[in-house]
Amino acid sequence: MAKIAVFASGNGSNFEAIVNNYGQVSLLVCDNPDAYVLKRAEKSQIDTFVFSPRNYKSKLEYEEEILKKLEEYQVDYLVLAGYMRLIGSTLLTAYANRIINIHPSLLPAFPGKDAILQAFEYGVKVTGVTVHFVDEGLDSGPIIYQEPVIVDDNDTYEAVEEKIHTLEHRIYPIIVQALVNKDFVLEGGKVKWVRRMG
Ligand code: GRF
Repeated sequence: MAKIAVFASGNGSNFEAIVNNYGQVSLLVCDNPDAYVLKRAEKSQIDTFVFSPRNYKSKLEYEEEILKKLEEYQVDYLVLAGYMRLIGSTLLTAYANRIINIHPSLLPAFPGKDAILQAFEYGVKVTGVTVHFVDEGLDSGPIIYQEPVIVDDNDTYEAVEEKIHTLEHRIYPIIVQALVNKDFVLEGGKVKWVRRMG
């Protein structure tokens, strides 16, 4: 059975959706000792590795420590869920093509922080969720899956946010399962599904 580690920095609702609907989370990696996701991990009795980046000289240094933990837990895949840092070369090399992320917009539109708000303020009529492989860029790796969300004319920002999160919680556990099943592969820098999702 493949082992996954979830990386999160804040609230952790996607972490919880994965725990409840996929299961088998070996480790939570968290860069913020005050994050609410740690409470969720405690409740679900999932081991955590918590660190404060400011206690390290560089990304290289803390990623080496993360890598040691991942090796200790024999983790096969890294699943980013609201992890607010770029992954560096240490983890990218060790986990090449085995790191995925979820982003709350239809990439390449609205990368980076506050993507739901960026899209809402722009006035888009369709936004959505993207799950992609992670590379050295910001929300820039090969796209695995996307699903749209319609923005109705009288939707508030909160309403759009709710639609996005509901969609995220439904699809991310399914994509994680597909990842470990090897239901999709990378070919020439693009994702090809070899089996139907779900
Ligand atoms: C999600 O919207 C995810 O797409 C983005 O960060 C948010 C994390 O939310 N990368 P949560 O911590 O899982 O509640």
